[in-house]
Amino acid sequence: MGVCYKDLGLVNTREMFKKAVSGGYAVPAYNFNNMEQLQAIIQACCEVESPVILQISKGARQYANQTLLRYMAQGAVEYSREILGGNKILPIALHLDHGDSFELCKSCVEYGFSSVMIDGSSKPYEENIALTKQVVDYTREFDVTVEGELGVLAGVEDEVSAESHTYTEPDDVVDFTTKTGVDSLAISIGTSHGAYKFKPGQNPRIRLDILKEIEERIPGFPIVLHGSSSVPQDLVQIINTHGGQLKDAIGIGEDQLREASKSAVCKINIDSDGRLAMTAAIRKVFVEKPAEFDPRKYLGPARDALKELYKHKCINVLGSAGKAFE
Ligand code: G3H
Ligand code: 13P
Ligand code: ZN
Repeated sequence: MGVCYKDLGLVNTREMFKKAVSGGYAVPAYNFNNMEQLQAIIQACCEVESPVILQISKGARQYANQTLLRYMAQGAVEYSREILGGNKILPIALHLDHGDSFELCKSCVEYGFSSVMIDGSSKPYEENIALTKQVVDYTREFDVTVEGELGVLAGVEDEVSAESHTYTEPDDVVDFTTKTGVDSLAISIGTSHGAYKFKPGQNPRIRLDILKEIEERIPGFPIVLHGSSSVPQDLVQIINTHGGQLKDAIGIGEDQLREASKSAVCKINIDSDGRLAMTAAIRKVFVEKPAEFDPRKYLGPARDALKELYKHKCINVLGSAGKAFE
């Protein structure tokens, strides 16, 4: 066995979700691949006292190296201790985003993850159940929490892509959660990955009615929303006026996410908005200061912009600010 997340100062998501469901807010799940993103997440969440889920995708693991990421997560715990003072640490979960195999989930558990997602949503229903249950059965010994997914989001998830949504069928959720034993369930209600969630002219609404039906079938069970970036238009505009070409980028309205956060939705995944914030800041420096070539001079402003974005999400969208030590 490798390292146990508890020895790194990390927590699993069980307690976090219990509090989030009863408190009517959602815990942010922010993806990271590099140091600046991690700094921004920890600084923002410490400042507003929000619990946080650090998400690492399979692609991120390949990009940044699994060993380095494990030490970065450990470093994040210690960094939070330094920022918060008084020997306090932020509740931080380290989560595998969109795990696509039993082996990947097992390896992440061995590398100190406190939570894993096994995403069998593209598989036939019974196969999804069997794979998810296999991961749940394995993780129990280590007290690592597991997220499963039912329904298919449109867009791209690592190497898996779908043209259109298959909404989660409320009739399936009792059967799926009972048979698999998952700790939380990602559902498909019209959110999608990336910066192009709706076509121009489409009504950019998610199906809160399906969410309500699902909640009625499994009251209080932790629900997860993927693909929840809002694609802020001011960021899109900065990118496009500084050499970028993002045409018709549209996200999920923050008002709808705020509404969802008050329900049993207790984890909201945001990655693309962070990418936009960083890209906007970097493009601006490149255009305004073309002689600059010290990476700190453009990655620093990108990190600051990212931090502000995350604080805004915690305070105004997810409602998680102030909940870290409640
Ligand atoms: O859902 C996907 C996340 O945004 C991670 O994206 O696979 O490009 O790292 P990635
Ligand atoms: P966005 O692409 O909407 O940020 O979604 C991220 C996500 O769901 C990660 O799993
Ligand atoms: Zn996702």
